[in-house]
Amino acid sequence: MADTARRDSGVEGVDGGVGRTALLVAAARAIETYRPDSLAQDVHAEHFVLAAPASAGWPVRMWQVPDGDANPLWGRFARYFGLRTRVLDDFLLRAVHADGVRQVVLLGAGLDTRAFRLAWPSGCVVFEIDREGVLAFKHKVLDGLSAIPRTTRVPVATDLRADWAGALTDAGFDPAAPTAWLVEGLLFYLPGAAETYLVNTVDRLSARGSALAYEVKLEKDLLAYRDSPLYTATRRQIGIDLLSLFSLEPRPDSAAGLEANGWTTTVHTPFDFTRRHGRGPLPEPNDALAGNRWVFAGRAGS
Ligand SMILES: C[S@@+](CC[C@H](N)C(=O)[O-])C[C@H]1O[C@@H](n2cnc3c(N)ncnc32)[C@H](O)[C@@H]1O
Repeated sequence: MADTARRDSGVEGVDGGVGRTALLVAAARAIETYRPDSLAQDVHAEHFVLAAPASAGWPVRMWQVPDGDANPLWGRFARYFGLRTRVLDDFLLRAVHADGVRQVVLLGAGLDTRAFRLAWPSGCVVFEIDREGVLAFKHKVLDGLSAIPRTTRVPVATDLRADWAGALTDAGFDPAAPTAWLVEGLLFYLPGAAETYLVNTVDRLSARGSALAYEVKLEKDLLAYRDSPLYTATRRQIGIDLLSLFSLEPRPDSAAGLEANGWTTTVHTPFDFTRRHGRGPLPEPNDALAGNRWVFAGRAGS
């Protein structure tokens, strides 16, 4: 785990290291929000981008991107985040409204504002796990907006490379209640052992009727896409070298592990949802998104 600590360069907030990727997703969500054919709306997202020195000059509207949709970062990649937001909004809303789940955990929540923007039924609680510096920045911005959560929201400041289960239960998480778990844009930053621990912990803390959605990258060699338009644009335009933040260790087969423990899993490409919604990224040559998969898992109720 020292590997990831080194790559973080000791940066705890959103100013650099992996925390800055939360700003990238926030900028993408801001842009998505104001597209005429928007897939997801997050009116808070632009405020994070405008508040952080680390995202100075980044666009929050499509008209601020000179080459518009042709821009690999603020066009295609931002649309990817917009689609992902929509699909995972739908996953959580289904869990609480159709399946009766009342406990939600966002792992690596970053600047996710779902607690503030989704229509939660009464009696829900949303736990948000991220590192202290990221959550402190998030609270500063949201407090400045006088934003009010639409459900009970419990931030849990902890590092997901350590024993986060204790911090979560100390914060009031109830392992006897069904839970909807969301792991959005996180696992590729964690060492393989931390992913295994995370999935095993979700399994251990999940009552019947629980659901989990997470994102993985299947490529055996992420560096093969180093010169892809998407990674190149992200490096050149905003100075984020995603490949230097990702863990390059071999990944565990988490879906197989969950299946072995009685979960039912379905694995989708993002492009499946592009086709379903009629907008979003489609495959292209030298595509850094080619190995991305969105995995949905459920533990049957009693
Ligand atoms: C790309 S952002 C995604 C944030 C959010 N899930 C979203 O989709 O908007 C990755 C997030 O993972 C968090 N993260 C990465 N490594 C972490 C760790 N070891 N412990 C806790 N959080 C971590 C970062 O701080 C960051 O907020």
